[in-house]
Amino acid sequence: MAITRGAAWLTLVVLLGAGCQRARKYPAPPISQHAVPTSSDRNSTGVPIHYGWLEPAGTLDIPIRFVPSTSPEWPTLPDYWSASPKPSGVRLLAIGQPPLDAVLATAAQLNLESIRVKVPMGLPDPTWHVPKTNPLFFGQWLLGKKLFFDDTLLVLSQADGMNTCCANCHDPRRGFTVNVAKPARGQFNVPGLLNAVFNQHQFWDGRVTALEEVLIRRLDDEAIPPKDPPEPQSPGYLHAWPGVVKRVRANSEYVRGFQAVFQQDATADLIAKALATYMRTLLSGGSVYDIAQRNREARRGDYLETVDFELALTSSRLKELGWQGDAKLAAQTAARGWQLFSGKARCTLCHPAPLFTDGGFHNLGIGDSAIIIFIGDEKATGRFGAVPYGLKHKNLAGAYKTPSLRDVAATAPYMHDGSVATIREVLQRYNRGLDAVTNSYLDPLLLEGEASARRLGLGAAELDALELFLRCLSGQTLPDLLTQRSGKVQ
Ligand code: HEC
Ligand code: HEC
Repeated sequence: MAITRGAAWLTLVVLLGAGCQRARKYPAPPISQHAVPTSSDRNSTGVPIHYGWLEPAGTLDIPIRFVPSTSPEWPTLPDYWSASPKPSGVRLLAIGQPPLDAVLATAAQLNLESIRVKVPMGLPDPTWHVPKTNPLFFGQWLLGKKLFFDDTLLVLSQADGMNTCCANCHDPRRGFTVNVAKPARGQFNVPGLLNAVFNQHQFWDGRVTALEEVLIRRLDDEAIPPKDPPEPQSPGYLHAWPGVVKRVRANSEYVRGFQAVFQQDATADLIAKALATYMRTLLSGGSVYDIAQRNREARRGDYLETVDFELALTSSRLKELGWQGDAKLAAQTAARGWQLFSGKARCTLCHPAPLFTDGGFHNLGIGDSAIIIFIGDEKATGRFGAVPYGLKHKNLAGAYKTPSLRDVAATAPYMHDGSVATIREVLQRYNRGLDAVTNSYLDPLLLEGEASARRLGLGAAELDALELFLRCLSGQTLPDLLTQRSGKVQ
C-alpha cells in the first residue's frame, strides 16, 4: 500500500513538475524597473526584488493562489482546496519518466488552472506575505509536504540514530504543536504552525525572519556536532538537524522528485523552499469569533454583541466548546469575554485582532525572563540576544514573541518554556499582575505607574468569560489533504 502510494505520488510529482520550465538558474540581475518598493513587496524576505531568479510568467507548474474572503470568487469556492488537475487528467499522462518533450506536450494539453486556497473567514490576504523569491507552486508543495511527514528526514541523536520528522513535534492534530512542555533536544515549547505564513519573525526570540530559514541557516548547520548529546549552542538545540541535505540526496525518490520539480538536485535552499511552501498553506480561521464579526458587519453594528455570537454558536460549535448550558448564556458570556479582552483586561494591546498577535516581543517574567543575567553586553535571554548591535534595548531582555491566540485551546502548555499548563492559569497570572518586584525588565505595558505590577482585578465570572472567548478562537478543521501523511492529492 505504502509503495503504491509512494509511486503514485512520485508519478504525480514527475508528471506535474517535469512540465515546469521555470528559470531556476541565476541569471545576472537585470537593471531594475522596480527599485521603488511597492505595497506588494511588504513582508518579503528582504531580498531585493530586482534579483534575477524571480519566476517568469507562463510557467507550466501549477500555481497555488489564495482567495481571500473579500474576493467575489470566495463564495463560489466549495472547499478550502480547489484543485486542478482532475485525477482523470493525471491518468492521461504517461507513467514513468518519458522524455521531457513528451511530458511537455501532454502537459500543454491539460487545462492547467491554479489551485485555489479559500482563505478562511477572518484572516487577511496571505498573498502579500509570500516572498517573491519563493512563490507557491504545487510541485514544491508536494515535495514540502512529503519532507514534513518523512520520519527519516531528521536525526535527533547521532549516537542512537533516533529519527524524527517535523510532524512529530508539529502535530497537525494539535494545531501543529505537541502537548508537552519541551521536546527532546529543545529548550523551548513547540510553537504551532497554523497561520505561520503571517509570521514576521520565526522562533520565540525571532532570530530568523523567513519560514525558509527555520531548518538550515548556515552551512555548518549541516555538520555533525562534535558532542553528542549536543551542546546548547549546537544545531540540535537551534532547530537545525545535521545531514538533512545528504539524506535527501541519497533517497532516489527525492532525487527524481527534486529533478522533476526544480530540475536540480536537492540543496538546502530548495529543501527550505519546499517546506516553506507547504507551511504557508496551513491557514486557520472561520472561528466562532470570525463568524460573529461577519454577523456584526452584516447588521452594520459598531461592536460585537451577544446577538452576533448567538448566530455563530450553532449546536455543533457549542459541542466543540464543551458548553453544556443554555445557548443564549454562552453567547452572552462570549460577548462579555470579547469586551474584557479588548477593554478591561487589556489583551488587545499585544494580541490585536485579526491575528491576535502584535508580532512583537515582550518580557512577561516567565521562566528565564524573570531573572535576567547580562554577560558582557550581549548575553541576555530572549529577543535581546537575537538582535544585532545597535538595536539592543533593555525592553528586549527576556522578551519573547507574542504568540497568536488563534487555536490557543489546542496548543497547551503555554509560554516559551511551556511552564503554564492551562488557559485558566495563564489568565490568573495576568490577573494577579506579573511580577514587577524582582523583574525590572517586565514589559512597561504590564506596569501600573513606574514600577508596580498592573493587577487586572477580574472576578471569577469574568475569567470564565475571557476563557470562553479564547476558546471561540479555534478555527475550522483543515482538510485531510493538508494534515494527513497520506492525504490524497486531488
Ligand atoms: C524535536 C522537535 C521539533 C522538530 C522535529 C521540528 N521542530 Fe520546529 N520547532 C520546535 C521548537 C521547540 C520550536 C521553537 C524553537 C525556538 O523558538 O527556538 C520550533 C519552531 C519552529 C518554527 C517557528 C514557528 C514560530 O512561530 O516561531 C517553524 C516554522 C518550525 N519549527 C518548522 C519546523 C519544520 C519545517 C520542521 C521539520 C523540518 C520542524 N519544525 C521540526 C520543535 C521541533
Ligand atoms: C505586554 C504584551 C501582552 C499583553 C498585554 C498580553 N499578552 Fe499574552 N502574551 C504576550 C507574550 C509576549 C506572550 C509569550 C510570553 C512568553 O512566552 O514568555 C504571551 C502569551 C500568552 C498566552 C500563551 C499562548 C501560547 O501559545 O503559549 C496566552 C493564552 C495569552 N498570552 C493570553 C493573553 C490574554 C488573555 C491577555 C489579556 C489578559 C494577554 N495575553 C495580554 C504578550 C502579552
